[in-house]
Amino acid sequence: MPSTDFPDGFLWGSATAAHQIEGGNVNNDWWEFEHTPGSGCVDSSGDGCDSLHRWPEDVGLVAQFGLGAYRFSLEWSRIEPAEGEWSTAALDYYRRICGACLGRGIEPVVTFNHFTIPRWLSARGGWEAPDAPDRFARFVERSVGHLGDVIGRACTLNEPNVIGVMGYTMGAFPPGVKDAFDRHLAVNEAMVRAHRLAVEALRAGPGTFGVGLTLSMAEFEAEEGGEGARDAAQEVLEDTFLRATEGDDFIGVQCYTRLRFGKGGQMLGPPKGATTTQMGYEYRPEALEYTVRRAAAVTGVPVLVTENGIGTEDDTERIAFMHSALEGVLRCLADGVDVRGYFAWSLLDNFEWTLGYGPKFGLVAVDRQTFERRPKPSAFWFGQVASSNSLVPAG
Ligand code: GCO
Repeated sequence: MPSTDFPDGFLWGSATAAHQIEGGNVNNDWWEFEHTPGSGCVDSSGDGCDSLHRWPEDVGLVAQFGLGAYRFSLEWSRIEPAEGEWSTAALDYYRRICGACLGRGIEPVVTFNHFTIPRWLSARGGWEAPDAPDRFARFVERSVGHLGDVIGRACTLNEPNVIGVMGYTMGAFPPGVKDAFDRHLAVNEAMVRAHRLAVEALRAGPGTFGVGLTLSMAEFEAEEGGEGARDAAQEVLEDTFLRATEGDDFIGVQCYTRLRFGKGGQMLGPPKGATTTQMGYEYRPEALEYTVRRAAAVTGVPVLVTENGIGTEDDTERIAFMHSALEGVLRCLADGVDVRGYFAWSLLDNFEWTLGYGPKFGLVAVDRQTFERRPKPSAFWFGQVASSNSLVPAG
């Protein structure tokens, strides 16, 4: 068994996203989608965790647990509420969060786009609009101009691979289109272009910080006869984007489970009798090791685990899951894989997109009426891991 110690400087953090925690995010495509009959959304994001006002408590929790980084996202529709109209007040709000992090020795890891786009852009086609990548780059340029000197690391796009598949093949994300594979592929191309333009804009702006994208990745397993389907899926869902990270400072890996392929293509649902999570995913902490190794091998870029965790009401299961996943990270490190850090998804129980507030990914529970934050045992366990920089036993 490799050492249970992580390298000096290994970055421990927790992650959130604007639309999932802020509340009152009424000017973006997700708010519209949540209020569209037939979208499949079970909740409105509503008040979120009221982090729009309680963000100092959130930063305080990150500090209380002894984490070295806080990953959060900018809400494009707050910063650019109408095309070409900029809100200094919104930029100042995000600057205050960065400043509060820095003041407590916490690295602000800023995601410039985490799924949501302004309604003025979704109204003219969203990521299918010919100028969407340029509009995103302009938003990045404007934002980094205001925030660059207080950013620790920048993630351009959160899971650009999810927008196409969920929005244009599965129909479970805006704009809720199903089986439009050509449009899915076109959106993939737009996201790749948006990422490259955003990297340029970030590096041209003030401040000195690493840049990368974060990718939703999975362990891909093929039974005999399923290799072709697996390879085709990996190309569309992952490799298109892994190739787009050339020259970046890191690749953010976000992994939750395994996908399986057989003679008939993808085998939907977990293996018979497998333990599942609140997302319906197979319980598979070892998937993280697979994805970290693959991201490193395909890109040659340092890996940062920017999301890993489990939707569960059972916090003991959460600790066991994270412990197993981190054992896999230790095996990667022992083999010389360049992994720079690990972010727990999520700091708070929050709005889980189409599934609403049901799935509980947080280290901290949030009362849906009072917004009181209540740290779970997993928060203190993870804080011990971070503070000791070693894998503390799960129980
Ligand atoms: C994603 C997003 C997060 C999710 C998390 C749990 O990966 O979909 O980055 O917003 O909440 O992954 O599903």
